[in-house]
Amino acid sequence: MKQIRILFFHSILAFSTLFSVNGQSLEKWFPKEDLMKIGVYYYPEQWPEKQWSRDFQNMAKQGFQFTHIGEFAWTFMEPEEGKFDFKWLDEAINLASKNGLKVILCTPSAAPPVWLSEKYPETLVQNVEGTTMVHGSRTHCSWSSPKYRELVEKVDQELAKRYGKDKRIWGWQIDNEPSHYSAEYDYSAPTKARFIEWLKVKYSTIDKLNESWGTSFWSIRYQNFEQIRIPNSRELPQPANPHAVLDYRRFTAAECAGFVSFQAKTLRKFVSDEQWITTNYMGSHNPNDPFLNKDLDFLTLTSYPVAGFAVGFGNEGFRINEPSALGQPLDYFRSIKGKTGVMELQPGQVNWGRYNPQPFPGAVRLWLYQSFGAGSAFVCAYRYRQPRFGGEQYHYGMVGPDGVTPSPGGLEYQQTIKEMAELKKSFKPAKEMPLRLKSMKTGILFKKDNIWDMNYQRQTSQWNPNLHVTKYYEALRALQAPVDFLEESSDFSEYPFLVAPAYQLVDQKLISKLTKYVQKGGNLILSCRFGQKDNNAQLWEGPFQEPLKKLAGIQVKFFDVLPDDKYGKVTYGGRNFEWNNWGEVLEPETTSTVLATYIDQYYKKGAAAVEKKLGKGTITYIGVETESFKMERELMKTLYGKVTGKTPDELAEGLEVSYRDGLWVGMNFHSTENRTVNIPSSAKILLGERELKPCGVVVWTE
Ligand code: GAL
Repeated sequence: MKQIRILFFHSILAFSTLFSVNGQSLEKWFPKEDLMKIGVYYYPEQWPEKQWSRDFQNMAKQGFQFTHIGEFAWTFMEPEEGKFDFKWLDEAINLASKNGLKVILCTPSAAPPVWLSEKYPETLVQNVEGTTMVHGSRTHCSWSSPKYRELVEKVDQELAKRYGKDKRIWGWQIDNEPSHYSAEYDYSAPTKARFIEWLKVKYSTIDKLNESWGTSFWSIRYQNFEQIRIPNSRELPQPANPHAVLDYRRFTAAECAGFVSFQAKTLRKFVSDEQWITTNYMGSHNPNDPFLNKDLDFLTLTSYPVAGFAVGFGNEGFRINEPSALGQPLDYFRSIKGKTGVMELQPGQVNWGRYNPQPFPGAVRLWLYQSFGAGSAFVCAYRYRQPRFGGEQYHYGMVGPDGVTPSPGGLEYQQTIKEMAELKKSFKPAKEMPLRLKSMKTGILFKKDNIWDMNYQRQTSQWNPNLHVTKYYEALRALQAPVDFLEESSDFSEYPFLVAPAYQLVDQKLISKLTKYVQKGGNLILSCRFGQKDNNAQLWEGPFQEPLKKLAGIQVKFFDVLPDDKYGKVTYGGRNFEWNNWGEVLEPETTSTVLATYIDQYYKKGAAAVEKKLGKGTITYIGVETESFKMERELMKTLYGKVTGKTPDELAEGLEVSYRDGLWVGMNFHSTENRTVNIPSSAKILLGERELKPCGVVVWTE
C-alpha cells in the first residue's frame, strides 16, 4: 500500500490539471485576488423610474459590486415586433455604473411579450396533457420553435450590438434557468418534428432505431420515422418504451443546451472578448444537462436551500438544510469549466416552496461562505427589492417592498460583504492545494443518462438515483475529500479516487478506461446497478452486469429490494447495518476480499461488498445501499486511510470544511448544536472562532 501511496503523490504532482487550465483562462475576469464578488438582481422595469437612482445608490452603499438586469424585460425592450426601445435600459445601466456597479445583462428569452404569443401561437409549449401554454406568466415558448428562435435572435442581436462593447457590462446571462418549469417537457408539434430529425441523425435508418429501441417488444415496430410520437404516458395505456423515453430525455437536454448555445453564438458575433457569457441552470432538480453547454465561458447555478423540502440537522434544520444542498451543485457546476458563480441565492423567505419558512438567522451568510469556500467567482442575491405585485410577492429581497428597509438576509449580505473586504486585504493566493487534500482528490463519475434511465425504471419506489449520488457525495465531503464531477471523457489521472455511484449505462470504451485507471494505481469505487445496461439501455446478452465481471471479476447473482417497512441486515467490520432500498448478492473471484455480507434473508452469508486489487490500484464494489449510509462511509474511510496513509477525520454531523486558494472555511450547518473545528494551533484565524454556534463560520490560513 505504501508503494501505491508514493506513486500517487508522484502522479498527482506530475499531471497538469484539466480544470486549472480552464480556471486559468477565466482568471482575466475573475482574478483570485478579487475573492468573491457579491451582487444583486434589480428589475428597473418593475419600479418607478424616479426611484432607480436611490436604489442603485443604496445598493452601492450596502457594498454590492454588481447588479443583474433584464432577463424578464422583453416587452420593454421590444414593445412591438421589430421596434426596439433601449432608452430605459441605457438609463438604468448609466445609473448602475455611476454608482460603481458593474452590470450582468441578460437576454430576455424567458419572458416573451404578449404580441409574440398572439401573433405566433406556433411558438407555444404544449404540456403532457396536451394543453397549450399561453401568455400570462413566463417560459411558455418552445426552444424548438423556429419562429421563437428567429425572434429571440433578433432581440439578442439588438442587445449585443448596443452593449457588446460597453465596458460597463461585466458579462451576459442567457435566458433564465433554461427549463420549461412545470411543463418540464414539451409535446408541441415543432418539438415533435425536431425530435424526429434528431432521431434521424442519430439512427440514420428506421431499422437501426427499431433495434436500439427494441421495438419488436409489443409489436411497437415503426416503418418510418414520421410514425414516431413523443412518448407520453397520458396517451399510452401501459408504460412507454423505456428506450424511447431515454432518447426523448436526451433530446430535450440537447435541445435546451442547443437553444442556449444558439443565443451564445448570436451574442458572440457582436460581444467583445472582455465580456463573458453564461447561463444560470437550476442548481438541483435540473431536468436538463448543464455539461452540454461547455461552449459557454462557464456555467452558473441558482440555489434556494430552504423552500419546504429541507430536513437538515437538529430541530430547526429545515431552516438551513444540509451542506450538500448547495455544496453539491457548487462542486458540480464548478467541474464543468473549472469555475462557477451562484447567479441566484436565496435572500430569505421565498414564496414558491412546499411551505416557506424563515431561514435560520445566519443561514444566508452561511450559504455565502459555502459558495466562497467552493470557489465561486461571485454570488448574486435574488433580488434587491421584495416585489409589491406579481407572482412572487412573498419573496424576500435585500430590502422590503418599501425599497429601503433591509431584510434580515439583506443585513447578512451586508455583513458578509464587509467581511470579504477585510479578508481581501491580507489575502495572498496559495500556489498549491495542501498535499493532505490533494491525496484525497476524488472524481465522481456522473452522467444524466443514468439518472434518466433509473428514474424511469426504479424497480422500487424507495430507489432515488439522484439521492444515491448525493449520499456518496456527502460521505466524501464528510471525509473532507475535494470532489469534482467527471465525465467519461475527462482525464481521471489526477484523481487518486474515482467514485461511480449507480453508473448503470456503460460501454466497452469506458470499461477499458476504468481498467487502465486502476491498473495505473487508481482507486475505483463502484456502487450497485453499475453496468447493468449498454448505452441503449438494453441488458447485456450475457451474465447480469457483465461489464462488472469483466472489470472486477464480480458476478451479480441477483438483486433484491424490500418492502418499505422491512429491513435486511449486512455486516461490515464487526457492525451490522440495515438496508432496504437495494441489495445485490455478489459472487466474487477467490482473489477478491469480501468486505460485507448479508446476515439475514434467504441469501444470508452472500457477499454485499467486495474489494479487488488490480495492477497498482483497487476496485471496491458496494452492492448494497444501507439505510443510514454508515456502512458505505466506514468502508470509504478505511479505504482512504489505507491509500493515503492517514485515516481521514470524519466531520461531525452538520460541519463542513472547505479550502480555497490558501483559505480554509469551517461552517456549522447544525441548527441546535455547536461544533468545534479542528484548526491547527499554528493556524491564523482570520474570521470567527474554532467553536461554531449554529450557522457559525470560521476562516483561517495555515
Ligand atoms: C428562480 C427563478 C427566478 C425567481 C426565483 C424566485 O428559480 O430563476 O426568476 O423566480 O426562482 O425564488
